[in-house]
Amino acid sequence: MNTTRLGNTDLNVSRLCFGCWQLSPAFWGDIDIKPWEQSIHAAVDSGINFLDTADAYGNGYAEEQLGALMHRENLRDKFIIATKFYWNFTDPDARFADTTYDYIISACEASLRRLQTDHIDLYQIHGWDPITRPDEVARAFAKLKSEGKVRWFGVSNMNPEQMELYRAHFEVSSLQPHYNLLHRGIEQRELPYCLRHNIGVINYSPLFRGLLGGRYTAGSVIDGARASGPMFHGEGLRIITEAVDKAKAMAADLDLTIAQLAIRWTLTHPAITSPIVGVKKPDHILGALKAAEAVLPPDPWPSVGPLFTTAVAAVAALDT
Ligand SMILES: NC(=O)c1ccc[n+]([C@@H]2O[C@H](COP(=O)([O-])OP(=O)(O)OC[C@H]3O[C@@H](n4cnc5c(N)ncnc54)[C@H](OP(=O)(O)O)[C@@H]3O)[C@@H](O)[C@H]2O)c1
Repeated sequence: MNTTRLGNTDLNVSRLCFGCWQLSPAFWGDIDIKPWEQSIHAAVDSGINFLDTADAYGNGYAEEQLGALMHRENLRDKFIIATKFYWNFTDPDARFADTTYDYIISACEASLRRLQTDHIDLYQIHGWDPITRPDEVARAFAKLKSEGKVRWFGVSNMNPEQMELYRAHFEVSSLQPHYNLLHRGIEQRELPYCLRHNIGVINYSPLFRGLLGGRYTAGSVIDGARASGPMFHGEGLRIITEAVDKAKAMAADLDLTIAQLAIRWTLTHPAITSPIVGVKKPDHILGALKAAEAVLPPDPWPSVGPLFTTAVAAVAALDT
C-alpha cells in the first residue's frame, strides 16, 4: 500500500483511509460486528494504517467498538487514528454543535476512554461552529497538545474563510470534505486553498454512500436514511445508475471495478491525500485496494468526469 505525508504533519498515512461511520445504526441500520472486525484485520494485512471515526458515530458506539478491538488484539500501534468532536450528544435526542473549551476537553477525554488509547493522532472539528471564538478552541487544543493527548488538529466540512479564521489561532493540518464524482464543488476553492497551505485532504464518501459502488440498478430499493436523497430513488436513481453503467465499461477497459475507478478518480487530484472508504465487511476494503495502487493512463479521466457532471445536472433539473 502506498503511503504519503498528511499535509504539514509527520504522519505517513496510507493512500486509503478506513471509514467507521458504518457503525452508526441511526444512519446505516444495525451492522454485523464480526465482518466489521475482520475488515480491520484485512486493512492491517493490506498495509492500511489510517482510520477515520468520530465520537458522534453511533453516539460513541463506533469509537467503543474500535477501542475494544484494538485493546483485545493489541492493534493500537498499527493505526494512525483520526477522530472528531463537535456534536454534543449529552442528550442524544437533542444534540447540538459545541466547540467550547470545557466541551472540547471533556469530549477528548471521552474519546480517549472509548478508544482505549492515550493519544489521538488527528483530532478534527466535525463542522463549523459560528458561535464559539476560534481563540477559545485554540486554548483547548494547546492544552491537549501539551498533555500529549492529541498530536495534530484538522477540520471537516469547512470553506477557506472558516479555515482561515482557525489558522490565525492554531495549525490546521487537514480538511475532511465531501468529494466524489457526483460532488465536485470543492475543486473551485477548497482544494486550491489546501494545496497552497499544505493542508492534507481526506475526502469522505468517495463512493457517495455506495451509489458509485456498482451494486445498485434503476430498480433497486435503497432503504434507511440514504433513501431520502434525490439520487437514491426514482428518476434520480435511474439517471445515476445509467451513468454508473457507462463508467463500468470504462473501468473494465482498465481492469478496474467501478468502485475502484471512482475512488482512484478522487486520488488523481493533487490536493487529495487519502479517500476515506466506508467499510462494513472485508470485501469493501479489499475491493478498494487497487484504487490506491493502479497506475493509469490519463485517457479515462477527461470523459468520466463530464459523464457524471451531466448526470448530476439532470438530477438537479428534476427539482425545477
Ligand atoms: N466528516 C463528515 O461529515 C463525514 C460524512 C460522511 C462520512 N465521513 C467519513 O467517511 C467515510 C466514508 O463515507 P461513506 O460512508 O459515505 O462512504 P463511501 O465509501 O462513499 O460509501 C460506503 C458504502 O459504499 C459501499 N462500498 C464500500 N466499499 C465498496 C467497494 N469496495 N466496492 C463496492 N461498494 C463498496 C458500501 O455500501 P453498500 O453496502 O450499500 O454497497 C459502503 O457502505 C465514513 O465511514 C466516515 O468515516 C465523514
